[in-house]
Amino acid sequence: MNILSIQNLSKTYQSGNRKLTVLDDVNFDLAIGETISIVGPSGSGKTTLLGLCAGLDSASSGSVVLNGASLEKLSEDQRAAIRNQHVGFIFQNFQLLPTLTALENVMVPLELKKRKDARTKAMELLEKVGLGDRMTHYPTQLSGGEQQRVSIARAFANDPKILFADEPTGNLDTETGEMIERLIFDLNKEKGTTLVLVTHDTELAAKTQRIIHIKGGKIQEDNHA
Ligand SMILES: Nc1ncnc2c1ncn2[C@@H]1O[C@H](COP(=O)(O)OP(=O)(O)OP(=O)(O)O)[C@@H](O)[C@H]1O
Ligand SMILES: [Mg+2]
Repeated sequence: MNILSIQNLSKTYQSGNRKLTVLDDVNFDLAIGETISIVGPSGSGKTTLLGLCAGLDSASSGSVVLNGASLEKLSEDQRAAIRNQHVGFIFQNFQLLPTLTALENVMVPLELKKRKDARTKAMELLEKVGLGDRMTHYPTQLSGGEQQRVSIARAFANDPKILFADEPTGNLDTETGEMIERLIFDLNKEKGTTLVLVTHDTELAAKTQRIIHIKGGKIQEDNHA
């Protein structure tokens, strides 16, 4: 069974009177429980691709089927519901809500799922990423790596079926990066979570079962280990 199926996906932006093609006819399927890395140079379309796969953004043409639902046929609200239920997303720039504390940021997806234990579960997740003593800090009071770890805790909160992580260890020191890597891969082993990582780190990419190379918005190689 596929958790994700991408067909003829393209994304263009209009820039003045020029058309900028950022993704050009991308095709791939992901099986449930698969782990995959997307690699490629800066500006090649990796973050754009991740956003389309997760239903955060809509394509110019083509289709994304996520957990059996064709995202292009859904309203923004319906897409948001699917994201809340099934998707975890670690953003390249964290995207924490500035008016909420670390704890409250991690509680958001749990409260959307109406979980009564939202606070306890969020505290557990922050402990796991080593931020037990930073729960009431606001994003501006946290270092870059700490913000990244809050965003990781938040992405894990709704027990996602599929986790999209855009440079999840990009801003972390080696030791913290390795800890986060372990947490992410444990999620795959223990809960069968499908992992889609974007990374410039070739060692991290080599730990996934499959590597897609993207350049100029096109898939150049799709290699299974
Ligand atoms: N909203 C937008 N409007 C116009 N162009 C955009 C927009 N968003 C992204 N782009 C362009 O799309 C291209 C791909 O961007 P994207 O963020 O997907 O790259 P990336 O592969 O993630 O790069 P990096 O490794 O630097 O994060 C870039 O050239 C960028 O300038
Ligand atoms: Mg990017």
